[in-house]
Amino acid sequence: MGPFVDPLHLELPKAWASNGCFETMRAYGGRIFRLEDHLERLYASATSLGTRVEVDRRHVGRRLRTALKRSGLNEAVVRIALIPPPFASPKANIGPAGRAKGGGIIPRREEPASPSIVVQPATRPPASAYRRGAQVAIVPARKFAVGSINPQAKYSARLGSVLAVIDARLRGVDEALFLDEAGSVTESTASNFGIVSKEAVLTPPCWLGLLTGITREVLFELAQELRLQIREVPLTRHDLYNADEAFLTSTLKEVLPVTSIDGRRIGTGRPGPITKRLHRAFQRLVKRELHIN
Ligand SMILES: Cc1ncc(COP(=O)(O)O)c(C=O)c1O
Repeated sequence: MGPFVDPLHLELPKAWASNGCFETMRAYGGRIFRLEDHLERLYASATSLGTRVEVDRRHVGRRLRTALKRSGLNEAVVRIALIPPPFASPKANIGPAGRAKGGGIIPRREEPASPSIVVQPATRPPASAYRRGAQVAIVPARKFAVGSINPQAKYSARLGSVLAVIDARLRGVDEALFLDEAGSVTESTASNFGIVSKEAVLTPPCWLGLLTGITREVLFELAQELRLQIREVPLTRHDLYNADEAFLTSTLKEVLPVTSIDGRRIGTGRPGPITKRLHRAFQRLVKRELHIN
């Protein structure tokens, strides 16, 4: 394991925006929610990136739990990044026949990536965001095609998302939504998306080009528990504008209501009852699973 493990950073180190991959986890009551799922996704991202990790998943899991414990935080955001080995000096990068060996922005394959861990106090949208709901805009830029940059891998470099957030802010709203090239809704910059229509929960299928979010997976469990219909279906802007409810899901947002999309009021313009039920059920499930009283 590399030297760069610090249990309580208040800022993310700059190297995190490099060409590595990462996971953001949430700890409740001093325990990480769905740790195994996050580790599985982290190692899958590393494989996609062609990066070897110097230690196995069990070891990384232990280091994450230790970092959390050492931070003394119960409610925390736990972040892990697999950062490619430090760039070589330009001289060291010239191989036989003067060919560049890599370095610069290209990760060096021969050296394994070492995990870096950062634990911070939990951040979540303020209570007022759950009361009034998020305002969302569909941004003009399209989601990368699956054959281009596969959204299943959580790569650190996220220029597409940064540009979309800038676009959303310029439109005066909280979050951006991406369409794919054909005009189907995919996801937000760091959250999955869904609607409620005629009492059924509808969310776009991952093959359209969106991350299989861990919270999105939990949503299917919750729908079953609450005996709600849930279906994966491609959604158009028309479907969104005419939805009864809409919401975003992510590790940090949990289930956040959306009350306006592109200036159109969704449903009554207030957080929807099914969205609120799903969020309450999510919070109950977390407590049950992590044995929190
Ligand atoms: C692009 C994208 N979609 C969706 C999500 C939500 O995933 P999860 O529920 O696993 O946090 C994230 C989370 O970081 C994300 O980056």
